[in-house]
Amino acid sequence: MYIFKAGVVGAGAMGAGIAQVISYSGLPVVLKDVDQAMLDKGLAQIRSIYQGRVEKGKMSAGEMQSKLDLITPALDYGEFADVDVVIEAVPEKMSLKKRIFTELDAICPAGTIFASNTSALSITEMGRATKRPHKMVGMHFFNPANVMKLVEVIRGEETDDEAVQDIVAFTETLRKIPVVVKECPGFLVNRLLTPYLNEAVLCLQEGAATAQQIDAAMVDYGWPMGPFTLMDFLGLDVCYDVGQYLYSQYGDRMAAAALFEQLVKAGRLGEKSGAGFYGYGDNTDEPVRQMIARMNGGRRLGEFRPERLMYLLINEAAYAVQENVADVRDIDMAMIAGTGMTVGGERLGPLALADKLGLDTLVAGLEDFEKKYGKRFHPAARLYELVKEGHTGVKAKAGFLEYV
Ligand SMILES: NC(=O)c1ccc[n+]([C@@H]2O[C@H](COP(=O)([O-])OP(=O)(O)OC[C@H]3O[C@@H](n4cnc5c(N)ncnc54)[C@H](O)[C@@H]3O)[C@@H](O)[C@H]2O)c1
Repeated sequence: MYIFKAGVVGAGAMGAGIAQVISYSGLPVVLKDVDQAMLDKGLAQIRSIYQGRVEKGKMSAGEMQSKLDLITPALDYGEFADVDVVIEAVPEKMSLKKRIFTELDAICPAGTIFASNTSALSITEMGRATKRPHKMVGMHFFNPANVMKLVEVIRGEETDDEAVQDIVAFTETLRKIPVVVKECPGFLVNRLLTPYLNEAVLCLQEGAATAQQIDAAMVDYGWPMGPFTLMDFLGLDVCYDVGQYLYSQYGDRMAAAALFEQLVKAGRLGEKSGAGFYGYGDNTDEPVRQMIARMNGGRRLGEFRPERLMYLLINEAAYAVQENVADVRDIDMAMIAGTGMTVGGERLGPLALADKLGLDTLVAGLEDFEKKYGKRFHPAARLYELVKEGHTGVKAKAGFLEYV
């Protein structure tokens, strides 16, 4: 099905960004909110994205205006009677999202695809609140939506192939990279990032290294920014909430570092609150250092190595493979496009990296970490299987991927 017109519900940070991306592709889009002030703010955000392009000489003022003219702001559903797709981007509350899709169900044609930009909630459950569960799909953009290339396309239990294919094609017309993911808690990128980020916090609270040292080491490794800079940008409350949800779903391997909770309780939520792992403006990171000293008694309780973080991320990717959450290449693509990760400048996702390291080496490394730091490092069954089959990676010409 070709998408001629789209609707976006919720004109906040994500909804406005998504509406900008749709208008930029040349499609008309209705942007709805319940709050005129939020709608105005969303439109101002869109205008400023376009203005930036005009100032860089990438588009003329006339082109900007014609793109802006494709956006119809709305406080009601009047314009939703002929949309081919709706992307919902209201706050992360299941009851609210279900209510919105029930309202849309009564207004939109039966063929309209319903997409949610939820970061973690169940697409299947949202679909079941409507008369069209087969037309419900996740369309998980990353922040800022106008910059980040990846869109995780989430297939719920009842989503049909046609809806998935239509959203994949639509995502491509938006010049984004779609990766189809079977519904699972955290989907792909947040699921793989959570143990990696949490391990960085554990290293910090153990006094193994400072936030600056860990960030610098991970940037050297190939990441566009270190884990603490990233968490301060994303918001510690957001990371903590995602972590708690994943802990409730996956158990101990996602258990949050104690320091996380202490920082959130102290109101150090990252850049947005002026203080997180680092201090911003007049604030410093001295209170964080004091918290850490209280937790580890001023002693170094563990050792930091980039592998401590990376092996957990790879192991979670191996769990995703064994659960058929996505194809091996798609998992790698999602991590590269969703996080900008490289390894020494080479575009390698976690599974290609695992093959390069050698899966036997990886398993031995995980087992070693498991002895030192606990069960969360226990290798995924898929890793043991591949090693047993002799598929140890690039050196054996077969691992997660095949090599000629
Ligand atoms: N912010 C991120 O980094 C990020 C990244 C990916 C996904 N998400 C997800 O995107 C969704 C939106 O997040 P956000 O950060 O843009 O939130 P936000 O709080 O910035 O915006 C939410 C908007 O929804 C509006 N709204 C509330 N109730 C509404 C209703 N009944 N009808 C229409 N509009 C309504 C609010 O007025 C507000 O403008 C959430 O599900 C979130 O988990 C967020």
